[in-house]
Amino acid sequence: MSKFYVTTPIYYVNGKPHIGHAYTTIAADVLKRHYLNKGNEAFFLTGTDENSQKNVEAAEKVGQDVQAYIDGMAQTWKDTWNDFGVEYDDFIRTTEDRHKKGVLKFWEAVNANGDIYKGKYVGLYCIGCESYKTESELEDGKCILHNREPEKIEEENYFFAASKYRDQLLAHIEANPDFIQPESRRNEVVNYIKDHFEDISISRSSLKWGIEVPNDPGNVIYVWFDALLNYMTAVGYGWDDEKFDKYWPADLHLVGKDIIKFHCALWPAMLLAAKLPLPKQVFAHGFFTIDGQKISKSLGNAIDPNELAQKYSKDTLRYFLLREIPFGGDGDFSFDRLEQRYTSELANDLGNLASRVSNMVAKYAEGKVEAPSLEHEQEITLEVTAHTEKLEFDKALARIWQVVNDANKLVDSEKPWELAKTDQDRLVQVLGTLVAQIRLVTSLLKPYLPEAAEKLDKAFNADTISKVEPLFPRLEQE
Ligand code: MSP
Repeated sequence: MSKFYVTTPIYYVNGKPHIGHAYTTIAADVLKRHYLNKGNEAFFLTGTDENSQKNVEAAEKVGQDVQAYIDGMAQTWKDTWNDFGVEYDDFIRTTEDRHKKGVLKFWEAVNANGDIYKGKYVGLYCIGCESYKTESELEDGKCILHNREPEKIEEENYFFAASKYRDQLLAHIEANPDFIQPESRRNEVVNYIKDHFEDISISRSSLKWGIEVPNDPGNVIYVWFDALLNYMTAVGYGWDDEKFDKYWPADLHLVGKDIIKFHCALWPAMLLAAKLPLPKQVFAHGFFTIDGQKISKSLGNAIDPNELAQKYSKDTLRYFLLREIPFGGDGDFSFDRLEQRYTSELANDLGNLASRVSNMVAKYAEGKVEAPSLEHEQEITLEVTAHTEKLEFDKALARIWQVVNDANKLVDSEKPWELAKTDQDRLVQVLGTLVAQIRLVTSLLKPYLPEAAEKLDKAFNADTISKVEPLFPRLEQE
């Protein structure tokens, strides 16, 4: 049985999850469910990035002890995903011992390879990005992304000889076109590696929070150097070799486009230095705005995914985000569009169809019909599978909706309630086809809309077809 190991970024815990974080996590959840249904041994990892200065600042702001604050927030993130029905297989926290063990082992391996050296770092550091900045990345002396002034740092640091791997990295990217996807991101990374990829400082002497450098306890390891390692430490690196050999290399790292350089330049260079295999693919999705505006706490538009789920359903947010924004591109989350798609595609096209058909089968055929095999069933399944595996979630859903629409057209053209009076044979045939179509839709929707698929399954895959539970109730007018 082949394995499929997918990861999300580990999230900072200086705030609660918002729908931007939910986006990456939902995509990973869909893929995990897809590969699991296919019979693969699927493993889905998410977690929290806890050794960041941002977390320390957030704890100080609320006057809490840092570890206590982080413990509470990590629980909030877990609860959010659990309530939201995300089925991760493991949740790594970078303050865990298993992680620290792996990080120390890794540091030693890179050091043994001669790729860590001491040097003086003089420059600028943005805590928002948790990264060093060049003057060209600033506007009016401030970080463009965080609108805050970077700190001036002058310290004796450990450096990682990343530039040594520049050519090997470029050769790997060229030989493995799937390594960085989509293609536009690959070009961006290649240019970055060619023009800007330098040795990088991987420790801080002025910080107290983080994993200490081996044999030099006054220094903590640079948070990205530590955080990237979560993908290996979660599956046994440093504490369970057998497990590690089973899962590593990861099949897919899902990331937002904001953190592609860390994942496609620094991370593979680190792995090359430790002589470990590189992940098979890093896929960067785009960013979305909310009603045209950047998601931000200060604007108050950082929507909690569970609040939306309560209003519509867990499946609605999954459907909308993946259907509306082609994965890989940028997009906008508009509440108007969400309501439109909810009403027309989920409630009308799918919800009404399922409820009408289950009612008719109960009424006209006592819940029992013979469902034929559909003409293009296998082709459709293969098409949807191919789209899913290429992370073309919007296309997969659009293809599934073609089947939904075919079924709706059949209801409209055949009018089973009239056939009930005129042509019993044809009625039974039409109902059979409709049931077959809904069963196909149910099986294709399992990874995407697990709640709805479960209700459909219960009603349509039983010996006697019964009335389906409401899938997408009409919205209350506010
Ligand atoms: N801790 C680092 C990642 C370390 S991975 C080794 C980090 N964390 S984060 O909390 O800032 O989360 C960033 C991720 O959240 C992005 O890469 C992206 O996956 C997701 N998104 C945050 N805002 C988003 C949008 N507005 N739109 C889409 N995705 C968004 O960076």
